[in-house]
Amino acid sequence: MWKYIGGAVVTGGIIYGVMRYFGGGICNCSTRLDGLVIIITGANSGIGKALSLELARRGATLVLACRDTRKGLDVKCEILAAYPGSQVHLKYLDLASFASIFQFSEVIKCEFDEIYALVNNAGIFYHPQELTEDGFEITFQTNYLGPFVLTHYLLNSLKSSDHARIVNLSSEAHRMVNVYDLKAVTTCQNEFRSHIVAYSVSKLALILFTRALSKKLSKSNIIVNAVNPGNVDTNIYRHFPWLSNPWLYALQWPIRRLVVKNPGQGAQTALHTLLTSNRSTGQYYTNCKLSLPSPLASNEEIANEYYATTLEILAGIFSTESDC
Ligand SMILES: NC(=O)c1ccc[n+]([C@@H]2O[C@H](COP(=O)([O-])OP(=O)(O)OC[C@H]3O[C@@H](n4cnc5c(N)ncnc54)[C@H](OP(=O)(O)O)[C@@H]3O)[C@@H](O)[C@H]2O)c1
Repeated sequence: MWKYIGGAVVTGGIIYGVMRYFGGGICNCSTRLDGLVIIITGANSGIGKALSLELARRGATLVLACRDTRKGLDVKCEILAAYPGSQVHLKYLDLASFASIFQFSEVIKCEFDEIYALVNNAGIFYHPQELTEDGFEITFQTNYLGPFVLTHYLLNSLKSSDHARIVNLSSEAHRMVNVYDLKAVTTCQNEFRSHIVAYSVSKLALILFTRALSKKLSKSNIIVNAVNPGNVDTNIYRHFPWLSNPWLYALQWPIRRLVVKNPGQGAQTALHTLLTSNRSTGQYYTNCKLSLPSPLASNEEIANEYYATTLEILAGIFSTESDC
């Protein structure tokens, strides 16, 4: 009898330990954000939704920037039910369209005098490759060019705030590509490559952007950091054959339950970068701690060159003359 009880306790302890380990860091900051305006892209699902709920609990005024406004409305209602009286604004934003990004930014500038934070959370993974209406590969535009342009359109609103933060959701996948992949994907938008390379390049580009922008904003009130949320169970895998197939998903479920974060856990590092009193900028955070990205992503010269290259490929669509 005691043997079985002992066995159950040890097994339970091991399972708990494994889940705690893979659950990652927890943000322990008690900071409140009453009245501070925070924009979260892709707030209708996964990490963005979990983060929005936590920010509402801390009193922030939220702008849920969603391309699916029906799902966005469901999230807004959920937030208001959980935290009655919260200030929650739902806005349409499609990062795969520069026209939509421009319209969204104009609405924000009209409605809010200052913005405390922009969370570039929206993203796609393993998406069927296609060109956007602007002529860019869809993963590259949604995950990188869209946030790049949106951030610049909103810089003046961020500068109006006493302290402001930009948080870019990146991924450990950024380590999977080299400088040749980066150049090839960036300069040849209609030559499709593997889905994994497309995603990894977009996430590497976001870290390089974080680094270059932080330097340009070093004399301003804005800090900008990149975040690796870890491996999180969300809709992002909807196009990934291993997880979008219900049978394969069911087979992996027991293991995933142990080693994959839930969206609340996945939101912790982004939450930490929004709340921490540490004003480091241009950094990469994992599990609520500063961490080192790949050597390529840490290279300041490449980051600055890549920023210039991005402006070149956006020439005619967008320029930053008056922003930084
Ligand atoms: N989950 C992970 O394991 C993991 C790991 C590393 C990094 N990340 C990053 O974390 C971020 C959040 O992902 P998630 O896991 O929470 O996935 P998710 O549940 O699929 O959420 C992604 C969000 O992005 C939105 N989105 C996609 N394309 C968009 C567009 N063109 N315009 C505006 N919004 C768009 C989605 O809207 P719809 O609902 O309309 O599609 C959704 O709200 C992503 O940047 C992702 O790359 C996730």
